[in-house]
Amino acid sequence: MTELIPGPRSVVVGSGEVRLTAHSQLYAGTATEGVGRWLRTVLWQATGLPLREGRELDDTDGDGIGLQLDASLGPEEYRLVSDRNGVLIEGGSAAGVFWGAQTLRQLLGPDAYRRAPLGRERTWAVPHLTIEDAPRFRWRGLMLDVARHFMPKEGVLRHLDLMAAHKLNVFHFHLTDDQGWRIEIKRYPRLTEVGSWRARTKFGHRASPLWEEKPHGGFYTQDDIREIVAYAAERHITVVPEIDVPGHSQAAIAAYPELGNTDVIDTTTLSVWDNWGISANVLAPTDNTLRFYEGVFEELLDLFPAEFIHVGGDECLKDQWRRSPAAQARIGELGLADEDELQAWFIGHFDKWLTARGRRLIGWDEILEGGLAEGAAVSSWRGYAGGVAAARAGHDVVMCPEQYVYLDHRQAAGEDEPVPIAHVRTLEDVYRFEPVPPELTSDEAGHVLGTQANVWTEVMEDPARVDYQTYPRLSAFAEVAWSALPAPAERDFADFERRMAVHYRRLDALGVGYRPPAGPLPWQKRPGVLGRPKEGTPPNR
Ligand code: ACM
Repeated sequence: MTELIPGPRSVVVGSGEVRLTAHSQLYAGTATEGVGRWLRTVLWQATGLPLREGRELDDTDGDGIGLQLDASLGPEEYRLVSDRNGVLIEGGSAAGVFWGAQTLRQLLGPDAYRRAPLGRERTWAVPHLTIEDAPRFRWRGLMLDVARHFMPKEGVLRHLDLMAAHKLNVFHFHLTDDQGWRIEIKRYPRLTEVGSWRARTKFGHRASPLWEEKPHGGFYTQDDIREIVAYAAERHITVVPEIDVPGHSQAAIAAYPELGNTDVIDTTTLSVWDNWGISANVLAPTDNTLRFYEGVFEELLDLFPAEFIHVGGDECLKDQWRRSPAAQARIGELGLADEDELQAWFIGHFDKWLTARGRRLIGWDEILEGGLAEGAAVSSWRGYAGGVAAARAGHDVVMCPEQYVYLDHRQAAGEDEPVPIAHVRTLEDVYRFEPVPPELTSDEAGHVLGTQANVWTEVMEDPARVDYQTYPRLSAFAEVAWSALPAPAERDFADFERRMAVHYRRLDALGVGYRPPAGPLPWQKRPGVLGRPKEGTPPNR
């Protein structure tokens, strides 16, 4: 049962096994109590074994589990030894021990992912072996868009569990967009009273002529957010919140019309957007807007301890700024060349504001246009070019090119994917994704913090569709982010598929509604459904 995903650096298999029994103890040393609590809870749920608390490592007595730090290991590195003394997991930090505990769960078999024991006699065994393992990247991310379709809190917690099972450690929480505002901000109640609901939703594909005439909405209270952040922290996942400015802001403008370009349009008539695409309604570059968003970010900093705060910055349509006398006057006052520089000024303001508070700004690669704020990091989504330019200029980068790791994109060619949009990206394509482009020198490549898969939810109307789009591709992505894989063409996809055969059973036990493995899908060859493009339609982005 060493079909591990993501694959570890090294495994040396012995002969024999450690059997967990009703007498087995779990010892957690200083600084690993949290991992011990997590491991005892999940294994107790799955096995019914109590795994009583051992008081010393020696208590593990050949059939127990020991957890402790080893300062000679790197921060997320771990070593798992299963031998006649029992199972010992050592890590350079509690995070390393936690990733080792995830490996242990995989070694115990798919049933170790259940929430209740099966009630039949069975043995729980870990083969004798030694695993040494450490991640390739320190940013192994998943972005979830809860603005286009709301994901209730319970679903967010579940995705954090699934991330942890894949050793992913950054949850990028896309909380605001034209179609919804999803986080309570106490000083601006209308952001959620008005901004968290829309009257109706475009049905499926962007070009579809149909709307579902049903209100859609929801938001997280600040208590919910605190719980999500704490739940993530227990799983050694950092939550990076995103408030998208100055574009993708129609929901905020609908709630507070003075945030919009009121000299160009009557913003009092705007509602939360009910269409897909990019809204022309962007924030007005006024002092009032800056003060308003400082208020939003102040509350955000209280809730999210992350080093990075994401300010969006993508797809800001500048037409209203071109037509707005007030925006043009601001460009003049500031001595800026054009609207791109106005956006750079806007982002630069929040870069300084966040830096003064000990945080770092990250934004989508459009923040490079008109000059990148000093200290800012970039999420490179429009291919690699933005990330390459940013790394060469000494900025940190998270690689998430849409051509590879946008999991809303179709998973197979043809019409049969549910609402098949954009590029075809199969499981194998994701497995062969390389986050570090070869043109970077090793110094420049040092600025690549890591990589992230993005789940945009325009065409994912419910949690089941999120599962379908995300899995199994996120399993391949996790291996890209964690494991030291060879160059794309040399990666052994057949071996990955062999290990996936076991991993699908883990996902089954976890209740993940993944896309069925390759082969005919049950619904193929049915007549086309409204809203699906015909084959040959250009990518819908
Ligand atoms: C993006 O996909 N607009 C970041």
